Amino acid sequence: MTTDVTDLAAVRAEHVRHIATTLRDVRGPLIPILHAVQEDLGHVDQADVPVIADVLNLSVAEVHGVVTFYRDFRRAPGGRTTVRVCQAEACQAVGAEALGEHAKRRTGVGFGATTSDGAVTLDEVFCLGNCALGPAVQVGDRLHGRVTPARLDALLGEAR
Ligand code: FES
Repeated sequence: MTTDVTDLAAVRAEHVRHIATTLRDVRGPLIPILHAVQEDLGHVDQADVPVIADVLNLSVAEVHGVVTFYRDFRRAPGGRTTVRVCQAEACQAVGAEALGEHAKRRTGVGFGATTSDGAVTLDEVFCLGNCALGPAVQVGDRLHGRVTPARLDALLGEAR
């Protein structure tokens, strides 16, 4: 049996509509809806935007503006593991910028992008609450402190 792409799109749209309808009565519903869509479906697709706009009675432009304004929202499917390198001030003071550049070279992608094998999405983050142990890196759900380039290479190796 083959899977029809149109069917998948329809199933996704239905799922997004269900999320939006469930949360539309919370205060300031758009952000919670976008977070829920990303959590359930991995990213906020462009095709999700008109569905959410319809449920909230907003314009597509309004929803699109919020999705593109906040860096939290991924607009394409992410990799199997997300590696987030802190680039905030305390980590910057102990080499986070160089570590970020190292991560980009090693993965071959910039912040916000995914490796071609789909293994790793590299991202920057502004404070992981681990400032005393910078540079800080989060791999999946795990937080790592005092990450050297060599340690980052090992973490990336485990993620692939
Ligand atoms: S500044 Fe990097 S964890 Fe806080």
